[in-house]
Amino acid sequence: MNVELINQKFFEKFATKGELFTSPGRINLIGEHTDYNGGFVFPGAIDKGMAAEIKLNGTEKVRAYSVDLDDYAEFGLEEADAPKASWARYIFGVCREIQKRGGKIAGFDTAFAGDVPLGAGMSSSAALESTFANALNDLFDLGIDRFELARIGQSTEHNYCGVKCGIMDQFASVFGKAGHLMRLDCRSMEFEYFPFDPEKHGYKVVLLDSVVKHELVGSPYNDRRASCERVAAKLGQEFLRGATMAQLDAIKSEISEEDYKRARYVIGEEQRVLDVCEALKRDDYETVGKRMYETHWGMSKDYEVSCEELDFLATVAEECGVSGSRIMGGGFGGCTINLVKAERYDDFIATAKKRFAEKYGHEPKVYQVVISDGARRL
Ligand code: GLA
Repeated sequence: MNVELINQKFFEKFATKGELFTSPGRINLIGEHTDYNGGFVFPGAIDKGMAAEIKLNGTEKVRAYSVDLDDYAEFGLEEADAPKASWARYIFGVCREIQKRGGKIAGFDTAFAGDVPLGAGMSSSAALESTFANALNDLFDLGIDRFELARIGQSTEHNYCGVKCGIMDQFASVFGKAGHLMRLDCRSMEFEYFPFDPEKHGYKVVLLDSVVKHELVGSPYNDRRASCERVAAKLGQEFLRGATMAQLDAIKSEISEEDYKRARYVIGEEQRVLDVCEALKRDDYETVGKRMYETHWGMSKDYEVSCEELDFLATVAEECGVSGSRIMGGGFGGCTINLVKAERYDDFIATAKKRFAEKYGHEPKVYQVVISDGARRL
């Protein structure tokens, strides 16, 4: 993270010094589109994220500068003051959601930047929300607990950005712990840290970015969620979590083919997360990898959130003997997450780059990530 650049830009804009806060993006080993179904997810925070310098300015206005976009916005803290720029709406949304929870805040100046690639499925938006939720909680001494900080980010997505997301990304960004993944039960909100050190067992985790811009805003993501809610309601349940294939088959004739396939994916995914956690306890990375492929093809064929480029990357991975590969995050573009034996790594990366470039005219981007800590003051 280029903290010096943030310091420099903040000083240029506001002729003073503020305090620095940061929050990470995330990976998710398995458990995709399960969070809003009350199921399990298995994310970890990464060493890429957002950082912001912030100083209270004694007014009722926020003055915000995005270093990466070289864009500036000024807005008040009333509902009617919502800014136009989508990046500024994340900050505005966090302010409003804090106020709705009774938090007393006032104006501040901020400059922020990030190194988590936008639209790559690593939750740059959650990183931004958590940075500001955590910072404002600290600077205004609000005493909001960490789960509520994550919910503030999630409500920001729902109410100001048009994505009816689950809690995974904001949870991971707030609660991340170096060297650990977290299995979160999105119904009870209980979670457990799992040490995760694939290198110790001869494996690497690498992300391949198709550079197909994924965009969750708009209908496709929310449509998936609506399908799941329809099926859950038919089953007389609050969430799809806990439903069995037998129960789903019993109502098959009463729901659409599309809703059936989507629910089938979610029911399978719930079991896969549990299998992967058990497999990790035995250091059985090959089983982890198998489940990852199953998730990929479930997301592609049943949940229909893949794209040609991501299917191609998963296929090349399989052909290169990579242990596991799948779409990561919401889908519709972005990255695959790959679990690969160390000795196959170089060959896999070279082959994937070459074959992808032959087909799509550019190489995928390669990201190695380190599992890191969550939201914090710098
Ligand atoms: C996006 C959402 C998350 C989650 C994933 C899919 O990242 O923000 O809440 O639903 O997609 O697992």
